Amino acid sequence: MSSLQKPLALRSGSVLPNRISKAAMSEVLATPDGRVTPAHLQLYDTWGASQAGLLITGNVMVDGRHINEPLVVDGLHPDNFTALKKWALLGPKHGVHIWPQLSHPGKQSPKIVNDVPLAPSAVPIDNPMFQPPRELTEDEIWDIVDRFAQAAHRCEKAGFSGVQLHGAHGYLLSQFFSPHHNRRTDKWGGSFDNRMRFVSEVYQEIRNRTGADFNVAIKINSSDFQKGGFTQEDSLRVAQALDAMGIDLIEISGGSWENPVNRRGTKESTRRREAYFLDYAEKVKSLIDVPLMVTGGFRTKAAMESAIDSGAVDIIGLARAFAVDPYVARNVFNDNEYTSSVQPITTGIKKVDQMAVMEISWYTMQIHHISQGKAPHQKAHGAFSLPQVLFNFWKNGRAVKRVRA
Ligand SMILES: Cc1cc2nc3c(=O)[nH]c(=O)nc-3n(C[C@H](O)[C@H](O)[C@H](O)COP(=O)(O)O)c2cc1C
Repeated sequence: MSSLQKPLALRSGSVLPNRISKAAMSEVLATPDGRVTPAHLQLYDTWGASQAGLLITGNVMVDGRHINEPLVVDGLHPDNFTALKKWALLGPKHGVHIWPQLSHPGKQSPKIVNDVPLAPSAVPIDNPMFQPPRELTEDEIWDIVDRFAQAAHRCEKAGFSGVQLHGAHGYLLSQFFSPHHNRRTDKWGGSFDNRMRFVSEVYQEIRNRTGADFNVAIKINSSDFQKGGFTQEDSLRVAQALDAMGIDLIEISGGSWENPVNRRGTKESTRRREAYFLDYAEKVKSLIDVPLMVTGGFRTKAAMESAIDSGAVDIIGLARAFAVDPYVARNVFNDNEYTSSVQPITTGIKKVDQMAVMEISWYTMQIHHISQGKAPHQKAHGAFSLPQVLFNFWKNGRAVKRVRA
């Protein structure tokens, strides 16, 4: 049996049936006011049938006023509970775990949906899609802590076996970690302990309101790869602190909107090893006991197995591979030569190809095919998906603003 098919016991007592996880990918399938739709259920029914031991959902927002993009799920929408229960049931149906990814975008809330994004400090993002943020007040920080805990409690009541906190890619939790984004001089900024305070409070409050067998995981960056930002040393310390607090799983990624290395890798050597963050995984693994998931770049069964066999990684996270082959986990288990067909998506225009939204838009289109019960349309040209997705972004952004007006 492949090492990828070995079960993994977590601290909570849960057992993941194997070592492949679908990493979070924003589905962009909710209604403009953030309700779950039948398309979500069809999508996760398909991905569940892939037999990946753990399916982490795309961003589920803890505040419907602060969203990372249009048509994302609002975890606290009063009318979502029945649909969340149906979504959660797909886990036991397929014998896999489904964990919603709880998220607050902070300043990474685009102006198409948000005129006043919030952040630890009023440091703008170097991207014209976003308005400069306003600094959070102390009361607002506590309100967000409470929202994360409410959302986690709701997910538990709906029947999900855990949640993952989005602490990577420049979203609010990671903004608090970063000395570049967090310039506060109160107890929420400055020293390492102060920059950790927000995630610690969120984590503790979730633990206060959920049972001991409920899984709480986090996705963190190995580094932001940004001058003056969250460094690898900081990241190692964050992982150690979360391990000591009792977290159930840490997923490693990297980068942000300003530097999307999570989908490109950092340097040629890491690209050659397939997985972008393996060097970091080896370092952090020697410092922590909690299981580690590494996401970014895995394409072949050989590389996945070798990462698990090396002992540096406990779970392989795959994102884009699930958008081009919804049954990728099952196919990896059955085919020793498996190689994902994920390729760089290009239009041939260099400036366009460098835009983060370019690749995302093509994969979102594939996710939408799967959510309609269709096969991915892998031959679609990058130049075709971009205008379509940008148009939808604009149209849906206006719809979001209309429902809020
Ligand atoms: C369409 C798309 C949507 C994504 N949405 C999310 C998200 O909601 N949350 C998240 O943590 N990462 C998100 N990611 C990043 C992936 O989880 C993953 O870190 C990245 O794609 C690298 O993994 P891969 O090489 O297996 O694709 C997204 C990626 C894509 C392509």
